[in-house]
This record gives sequence, C-alpha cells and structure tokens, in this order.
Amino acid sequence: MSGENSGARMTYGNYLQLEELLSLQSGPEGHEPAPSNHEMHFIVVHQAFELWFKQVNLELECALNLMNVPEVDEKQIPVIVSHLERCSEIFRLLASQWKVMETLSPQDFLAFRDRLGTSSGFESWQMRTLEMLLGLKSEQRIGGMDPMVHNRKLHSEGKLSDSVMANMDRIDKLPSLNDVLLRWLARTPVNGVSGDLGVLRSFVDGHLSAMTEHGESVIAHMVKIGHGTEEVIRPRIESGIQGARDFLLPDGEVVPARAGLLFIESFRELPLLSWPRRLIDTMVDLEQSMLLFRSHHARMVERMIGRRMGTGGSSGVDYLDMTLKYRVFTDLWAVRTMLVKRDALEDPLNSDFYGFTAGN
Ligand code: HEM
Repeated sequence: MSGENSGARMTYGNYLQLEELLSLQSGPEGHEPAPSNHEMHFIVVHQAFELWFKQVNLELECALNLMNVPEVDEKQIPVIVSHLERCSEIFRLLASQWKVMETLSPQDFLAFRDRLGTSSGFESWQMRTLEMLLGLKSEQRIGGMDPMVHNRKLHSEGKLSDSVMANMDRIDKLPSLNDVLLRWLARTPVNGVSGDLGVLRSFVDGHLSAMTEHGESVIAHMVKIGHGTEEVIRPRIESGIQGARDFLLPDGEVVPARAGLLFIESFRELPLLSWPRRLIDTMVDLEQSMLLFRSHHARMVERMIGRRMGTGGSSGVDYLDMTLKYRVFTDLWAVRTMLVKRDALEDPLNSDFYGFTAGN
C-alpha cells in the first residue's frame, strides 16, 4: 500500500499489529522478554493453538449460519464444505504441533509448572465454544460436565470478561452444526421423493432385508470355509442387523434424517448426491482430525507428566484418554456399521431424478 503521506503507509508490522502481538509472551508477571526460553516456548505454543481455535470458531460459525436456515441453498454446500475443510486442515496441523511441545523436557516443565497454579487447557473457552458449535452435549461429556457452569463461575469471580461470557451464551443458544446437519439430512429426497414417511419406511425395510440376505450369505460362507461355527457367527450377524433396526427404526418409527443419511451413503455414485456426500465426508473428516488432535495431546501429556494429576484437577492422561470416546456426529459414524455392498442393494427408484439412468 503506498500513499502520498509516508506516515500513512501500511507496513507489515501495522497490518499484523505485530508489536502488540509480540509483547504478549512475558507471562502473567510481565517478565521481559519472557521468564525463560522454556516458559516462553510453553506460552507461544499455547497462544498459537488459541489463535487457530479463533479461526476454527469463525469458520464453524460461517458454516453454521449457512446451514441454519429452513432450506439450505444447494449452491452453498461447496462453501460450507470449504469452511469445514479449513478446520480439518487446522486440526491436522495442530495434531503435529504437539511435537514442538515435546522438545520441552519433563524436568524443564516441572521447573515452572507450579506457577501455572490451577490454570489448565481445561479452561480454554475457545475449545469449549468450538465443541459447542459442533454439538458436543454435556451429557456426552465425562461426568456430564457442563462447560457453561464452569465459565459462569469464572465470570462471576471476575476471571472471565463480560464479552467472552456473552459470546459463549450466544453460541449456547444457537443450534449446533450437528443439529442443522440432521435437519438438512431429513430433507434428503429418498427414491426421488422428499418428506414421505411411507417412502422412507419402505426404503429402510428394503435395506434391512438386504442386510439380512447378505448376512445369511456371510454365515453360509464362513461356515463353509471353516471360519467358525454357525452358533458363534449367527448371533454376531443378527446383533448387527438388530443394531441397524434400532438405529433406523427406534420405537418402530422411521427417522427421516437417518433414512436420508443411509440413502446418501448407500448410493454415493448418484451425481445429485455428490455434494451431500462430500459434506458428510467433510464432517467425518473434521471430527476424525479433532480426535487425532486430542489423542496426540494425550500422548504428549503422558510423556511430559506421566500419570500425575492435571493442573486443572483432573486425573490427567486418564481423563484425556476418556475424551477420545467423544463423538459429535454420532449418526454419521453409526451408519457406517450398517452399509451393505452396492451389488447387494436394489437400484434406487427414480434414479433419473439424481441425474443417473440405469446403465450409467
Ligand atoms: C506441557 C504441556 C501440556 C500439558 C502437560 C498438558 C496437560 C493437560 C492435562 C493434564 C489436561 C487435563 C485437564 C487438567 O486436569 O489439567 C489438559 C487439558 C487440556 N489441554 Fe493441555 N497440556 C499441555 C499443553 C497444552 C497446549 C499447548 C494446549 C493448547 C491450547 C492444551 C490444551 C488443552 C485443552 C483444550 C484441554 C482440555 C481437554 C478437554 O477437556 O477435552 N494443552 N492438558
């Protein structure tokens, strides 16, 4: 950027507010430039993560806004996908960033660990906001922990600003990405028809029959090649089919979002379904990259502090390992268990509706 007045010239430092940014690594006691090289490293790594969380939250909110409408505009699906893909890539980057943290030796960490007091990543409100935007519910968390309760307490003690609290309250009231995703899936045209429970039901029944038929052939084959007895194999196959029935027809009623999801996953080759499929894949990818991020954090922590308690008061690594069980997009994961190979499925009805004609 150039200007008549050289005083108004935009510089790299101005644009990035670099001096302000680089003056924030001195720790709470304000040691300049930093308490020690190790502690500055610890601070820089955390701050870098928090900056990325900020970006992820913005991308997630953009995606959420585009989906939080009665009818998602199809043209916006690629845009939603691009917001989510950026988040996945950031998490992939963050998962490998723990390696830098591991250059801190356990002894060097212990030298300043007491100064952290009870502060902990547990209190990262940006991470909690991110989980809320995705749709992780308190009842899915270890011990049913509600992050809003802890943050309200911090706020009431003056340890969290009004604006941070207000933003969390705002996000808490929004539907999550998982909510809007399910709403969108429920509108999937199945066999060329949208919103007809009878059509959905017969598609689901057809799928369960295909599973049963395929299951029988698997049992016969396994027994024939001596890979187990029928008494052992049959209950496993049948419990898989029962699991699918419970998922697709809880209380005997069809769930439109789940039927829509099963349809998209079963007939991935249909041109009209290619973007819906991409969106689902991207959500799964995002959750997978987050899980790897959590897992690498836990391994770094185990290496750093062994099995001792966390500064936040949790059991430490055991707690972190338990968080690896978290799944937000539970239906997207569950449907994988009940897919049947394409050859064993009847062709969808009205396939030309999806831009596909028999023989394509
Ligand atoms: C020496 C480095 C680190 C150690 C030893 C460590 C240890 C821990 C421990 C033990 C916990 C469990 C809660 C507790 O009791 O404190 C935790 C949680 C957490 N840490 Fe770290 N951590 C380190 C670095 C980081 C960094 C660089 C970040 C990046 C922001 C981070 C983010 C988090 C988050 C978000 C949680 C909450 C996880 C959850 O509840 O799902 N940690 N950490």
